[in-house]
Amino acid sequence: MSRVAPKPLQPNDLEALWLPFTANRAFKQRPRLVARAKDMHYFSPEGRPILDATAGLWCCNAGHNREPIVAAIQAQAGVLDYAPPFQFAHPLAFQLASRIAALAPGDLDHVFFCNSGSEAVDTALKIAIAYHAARGEGTRTRLIGRERGYHGAGFGGISVGGIVANRRYFGSLLAGVDHLPHTYNREKQAFTKGEPEWGTHLADELERIVALHDASTIAAVIVEPMPGATGVLPPPKGYLERLRAICNKYGILLIFDEVITGFGRLGYMFAAERYGVVPDLVSFAKGITSGTVPMGGVIARKTIHDAFMKGPEHVIELFHGYTYSGHPLACAAALATLDLYRDERLVERARGLEPKWADAAMGLKGLPNVLDIRTIGLVAGIDLASRPDAVGKRGYEAMERAFFDEGLMIRAMGDTLAVAPPLIVSEAEIGEIFEKVGHVVKAVA
Ligand SMILES: Cc1ncc(COP(=O)(O)O)c(C=O)c1O
Repeated sequence: MSRVAPKPLQPNDLEALWLPFTANRAFKQRPRLVARAKDMHYFSPEGRPILDATAGLWCCNAGHNREPIVAAIQAQAGVLDYAPPFQFAHPLAFQLASRIAALAPGDLDHVFFCNSGSEAVDTALKIAIAYHAARGEGTRTRLIGRERGYHGAGFGGISVGGIVANRRYFGSLLAGVDHLPHTYNREKQAFTKGEPEWGTHLADELERIVALHDASTIAAVIVEPMPGATGVLPPPKGYLERLRAICNKYGILLIFDEVITGFGRLGYMFAAERYGVVPDLVSFAKGITSGTVPMGGVIARKTIHDAFMKGPEHVIELFHGYTYSGHPLACAAALATLDLYRDERLVERARGLEPKWADAAMGLKGLPNVLDIRTIGLVAGIDLASRPDAVGKRGYEAMERAFFDEGLMIRAMGDTLAVAPPLIVSEAEIGEIFEKVGHVVKAVA
């Protein structure tokens, strides 16, 4: 007989779940629950519709519960539930890798699968360091991230990331990391649509970092083409091109973390395409399956992949991978998602909507406490003035009111509101989104 008394089970007990990146106590006082979704809407357990202005968490780019994706996942579950990705493989993983390689710019043509953006970032960082070692430049181990960067929650990601709260509680992090300055300056850039004119010169800070550490110690620079999670910061015009040029000059790899920007968010399949800059490695996740099944990955240039392909053929070339790398359900979901992006021309759609989107967002200028609005692709960031005694509270209240009073899902990142709907959003829904955001901005004045 067990000596441990069974715990009483309570239906819908909120206690056991420890929510990620969430104010747990506030949430549990007034839970924001969604139980169902279709196209542009979530539905609360009572059936109340909530217009999704965040594409879930920047991921449901094709909209929710799209039939072709649902059907593909269901069918795959009945055919091959799982296949080990180490030493064995299954056909869909190859098919998907080829599709992604064909969509990626330049010679980015080899795909390594994992299950999330955080894993994708760790994978890219590890490939970068191991690549230099494979070429006999084992001193190149230093990683350069950027202030206000978000690269997921793994130790690699928080080390190169630039969000203080994500770093300060977790010890010494990875050694040998330095950071570029972020590119945001409200005085010079406020209320810019698209890429700001000011800030290109900040890429030259990489020269300073190289001078400090010496190029022979630096493996890679990692940036989000457009930092999303720290407030929507479009890159200054020419900034990414200049980073690329400096990396080339010193033999430093350039990693674009396209976990948010990949798969259409900025009106191009990858931000790399929008900027005409080919990085050496791209991390992706989120939009690859439109959020339906966890999946992430890294796309590597041919030269990087090929550098590993040496030594005895029975020996593993890269000691890295995950049990669920290229999971069959994720591959099926991703292939159906890519079909949908292609067939409905969703990426082109996002590009076409960008001017209307930007105009609609800028319509909030002049509302109380609105300090800045930034737009790019189908993304907007709206900075609200913080309450003097409580940084983040106005943003939190706006998000909460949007959900309960306006039937709208937006994200609050401190006092910045982020809006990034599925790419199927209609013009009428764009109007509805910003009208509702306007209501909440006024309500939290
Ligand atoms: C640029 C970027 N990288 C990495 C991540 C981490 O992705 P995940 O939450 O899937 O681990 C995110 C998540 O928002 C992100 O925006």
